[in-house]
This record gives sequence, C-alpha cells and structure tokens, in this order.
Amino acid sequence: MTSGGADVKGLVRDHYGERARRASVGPAAETCCGPSAIYSPVELQGLPPTVTAASAGCGNPTALAGIGEGETVLDLGSGGGIDCFIASRQTGESGLVLGVDMTLDMVRLATGNARKLGVRNVGFMLAELEHLPLASASVDVLLSNCVINLSTDKDAVFREAFRVLKPGGRLHVSDIVLDRDLPDGVRHDAEQLVGCIAGADLHDVYLERMRRAGFTGVTTREAVPFRPGDVAGVVSAKVEAARPPGR
Ligand SMILES: C[S@@+](CC[C@H](N)C(=O)[O-])C[C@H]1O[C@@H](n2cnc3c(N)ncnc32)[C@H](O)[C@@H]1O
Repeated sequence: MTSGGADVKGLVRDHYGERARRASVGPAAETCCGPSAIYSPVELQGLPPTVTAASAGCGNPTALAGIGEGETVLDLGSGGGIDCFIASRQTGESGLVLGVDMTLDMVRLATGNARKLGVRNVGFMLAELEHLPLASASVDVLLSNCVINLSTDKDAVFREAFRVLKPGGRLHVSDIVLDRDLPDGVRHDAEQLVGCIAGADLHDVYLERMRRAGFTGVTTREAVPFRPGDVAGVVSAKVEAARPPGR
C-alpha cells in the first residue's frame, strides 16, 4: 500500500462499496462491534436490516449530541445512514439531517433506506469530507462515526467541518485514535487501513488538529479499547467540540 491520498481513497471506496452492496441484499452476521453492541434497542427499533447491516461505526455520536427539534444536522461519512435516521427522530420534521459520503454505493443504499423508512427530513450527498458541498455556517450539529481516521487530510476535514458549522454549533465525533504508535507492519497494512486502524492519529494529535481548525471546548467524553484482538493502544473515542459563538 502507498500512502497517497488517491490510493487510500480508492481502497476505502472499494471496501465500503462492497460492504454497501452486501448490505443491500440482506443482514450481515452480527459481530463483536455490530450495531446491537453500540445502539440501544429503542434506537434500533424500526430500522430495516439494510440500515443495520451497513452500520460500521465505533460509537454512538448522537447519544451525547443533545440534538433538538428543528436543528440542521450533518453526518460526515454517513455510510448506510444509521446515525442520520436516529438523529432525524430528534430533529423532527421541522429539522433537516444530511449525510455526506464519498462512496457511491453507500449513498445509493442510504437513499434507498430513507425511502424505505419514509423519512422526509433526511437526504444524502456524494462528496468528500475534504470538500463539503455546503454553504458556510449552515449546520447546527455535526456528527461523524468512525470516518475521519480514514482521511489522509484530516486537517482539511476539520477545516471544512468548522466552516459549515454555524457559530455556536457543535461537533460530536466517535472515532478511532491511538494511545501509542502502531507497529510499522500495521501502519502499512491495507486491511488495517480500511478497518479504521492504520490511518488513525495519536489521540493528542487528533485533538490538536481540531483546535487548529478553530474548534473550542475540545473534550474527550469517553475513550475505550476498540475491538478485542486489535493491536494494543487502539481506542474508540467520543470527542466533542464547538465553533465559538461570534466566530
Ligand atoms: C467505517 S464506515 C462508517 C459509516 C457510518 N458512519 C456508520 O457509522 O456506519 C466509513 C464511511 O466513511 C466514508 N468515507 C471515508 N473517507 C471519506 C471521505 N474522505 N469523504 C467522504 N466519505 C468518506 C466511507 O465511504 C464509508 O462509508
């Protein structure tokens, strides 16, 4: 594997495109880190298998986001749409939930899922997080679940996230971070890359990128070992931050 951004994006698209195509035809076998280990039965209630089978998160960013009625929410790397559908129950029909993903089959799957669920306040866009197709200061709440680790330009992702958030808006991210460096063999392994490990930042580096992009109140609310059997030091973290009011 080379470390070029285009190569990495190609690997990620191939992997998650395949996952989307499999999810579109039926439920996946439940694994250690499947949706029932992440979400409550109430959150999962009513979601079709084509939503839950595509779920590939490492946390539950909506759980701590305190999303209110009428808010505009954007999910960065929305996959099959699970967090968007959960968030849409909180915004109600007076709010709007958008998902952005760069993998065409994921966007198709999520759009089909929205149709199946009959939700009218959720939409999905094909785009890269490093270049968001949204107006500046247009979003109240940003979510992201196990995605930013996959970007080779995390600074651009956080810059764009800051740009589209309204002043006073908030960011709630679940992601993989590291509490120590990875062995070289893991860092350069394509499977570990698409599996959300090899591209992960050291925890402090990740938080510092958020601050550099302008976020304040950058706080880790939870940090727990990711999957059993992973290389040591791989952590699933829930991080929150805000765009300060007036900036
Ligand atoms: C591990 S999956 C998580 C999907 C979803 N958040 C969930 O919890 O099920 C990562 C998703 O992020 C998308 N992705 C990765 N890098 C991206 C980027 N730079 N821009 C847009 N989407 C990206 C992939 O296509 C994939 O659907």
